[in-house]
Amino acid sequence: MIVSEKEIPKIVEHLKSQGLAALPTETVYGLAGNALKEEPILSIFKLKNRPKFDPLIVHIKDVSELNKYAIQPIPKAASLLTQKYWPGPLTIVLPKTALIPDVVTSGLPFCAFRIPQHPLFQKILRQLDFPLAAPSANPFGYVSPTNAKHVAMNLDVPFILDGGPAKHGLESTIIGFVEKGKALLLRHGSIPHEEIDKLVPGLLDETSSKKSPQSPGQLDKHYATRKKLYLIEDLKSFKIKETDGLICFGHVPYQGKNVFNLSTNGDFIEAGKNLFSMLHLLDNHSGINQIFALKLPNIGLGKAINDRLERAEKN
Ligand code: TXA
Ligand code: MG
Repeated sequence: MIVSEKEIPKIVEHLKSQGLAALPTETVYGLAGNALKEEPILSIFKLKNRPKFDPLIVHIKDVSELNKYAIQPIPKAASLLTQKYWPGPLTIVLPKTALIPDVVTSGLPFCAFRIPQHPLFQKILRQLDFPLAAPSANPFGYVSPTNAKHVAMNLDVPFILDGGPAKHGLESTIIGFVEKGKALLLRHGSIPHEEIDKLVPGLLDETSSKKSPQSPGQLDKHYATRKKLYLIEDLKSFKIKETDGLICFGHVPYQGKNVFNLSTNGDFIEAGKNLFSMLHLLDNHSGINQIFALKLPNIGLGKAINDRLERAEKN
């Protein structure tokens, strides 16, 4: 059920008694439960139909919580990143202490942490004495939710807190500190790669690495619409049919009811914000059978958007 801010006291009680709630964050909506208890974590995996090998992000209220949950000392580069981006769309992966149960991290000795910026998520965290594990609030493999309705259409959760449309609309950028002296980019996200690179020289892009289980959730098939999606490099030889949907970007010679432009003036931030909601719209559009998506320039947030589209196409 979608509820408003007024119901926060009930949501807090529900989370305290090991229940789950879908909560707004500035990236995408999350399906939250007590990160320190096994029962809610197992419920999250079950409700999402998520494989147990795909670990969850732990959302904390304050950077000082890392003293309890992450092994000290924290690498300098990690502290630089948290100072600049927390609260916000950055997740860092660090060696964990025993307070974080193994089910949260799928048995890995590392845990992903983030301080979300959304005021309602923060309000809830401040009333709890435990952090919240929260994956995106969608069935495993489906398009992530950027508003409360997206959650309600796809998951049966007792509380879905409406916090408006997500400000960024793309998941957090994940940086791993899992090998001594190295910083690994594990997922492209709301903070562009190039920005992190400036702060952490020598950042290694592991986002397409198949060899390691460093980011076990970075499966090829993901973010998928139920309708078939095809990625196209350019529109030169493309002819849109009545039953095709098109996702495009910038000035293109296409308009009409089946054409969804992520940003007509080529703004990556606007495009990121629109991506998942347009995929949801197209997937639920009764007159459309298949979806074509134009690849974005592979720079800045364009990389994160292309990453989502490429994984959606593989399904
Ligand atoms: O923006 C976000 O990060 C959203 C909001 C709700 O916070 N959450 C989110 O969670 O995107 P999820 O579960 O949909 O994606 C988490 C990603 C997965 O690819 C997972 O494999 C990776 O983070 N991850 C989690 N814990 C990890 C760990 N210990 N080591 C490596 N990767 C990890
Ligand atoms: Mg997800």
